[in-house]
Amino acid sequence: MKRGLALVLAAMPVIAADPFTRRCSGCHALDVDKEGPRLRGVVGRKAGSVADFGYSQVLRESGIVWDEATLDKWLEDPQKLVPGNAMEFRVPNVDERAAIIAYLKSLSK
Ligand code: HEC
Repeated sequence: MKRGLALVLAAMPVIAADPFTRRCSGCHALDVDKEGPRLRGVVGRKAGSVADFGYSQVLRESGIVWDEATLDKWLEDPQKLVPGNAMEFRVPNVDERAAIIAYLKSLSK
């Protein structure tokens, strides 16, 4: 049962970290910048605001504040939300996006 499994995953933070590791950690870490900026505390953060990371100008000037809704749009299609930004990656699956956002949110408390 797919729905049942999603509930179990949501209840288990250690397992819920897995989609982040699998999908994002090639370019992002929680506490250091890689090809993408560090992501601990990103929920509630202004887009493009990690001081020493070399963002694209369009993302720095986007005026976005990252919350569940903006992160969902970003992960679904970053180029649609902020055309010309430097993140070339999408997560088309809505359940996977939800799991990743829940994980990032759990780190922001
Ligand atoms: C191929 C490399 C790559 C992958 C994979 C990737 N990202 Fe990114 N990400 C970037 C880059 C590069 C930027 C900076 C974009 C810019 O400056 O325009 C970025 C920016 C971001 C930002 C904006 C952060 C800020 O400080 O404004 C968020 C949020 C983000 N990524 C989340 C994710 C998540 C979650 C995943 C996994 C689903 C992911 N990214 C996968 C390269 C990547």
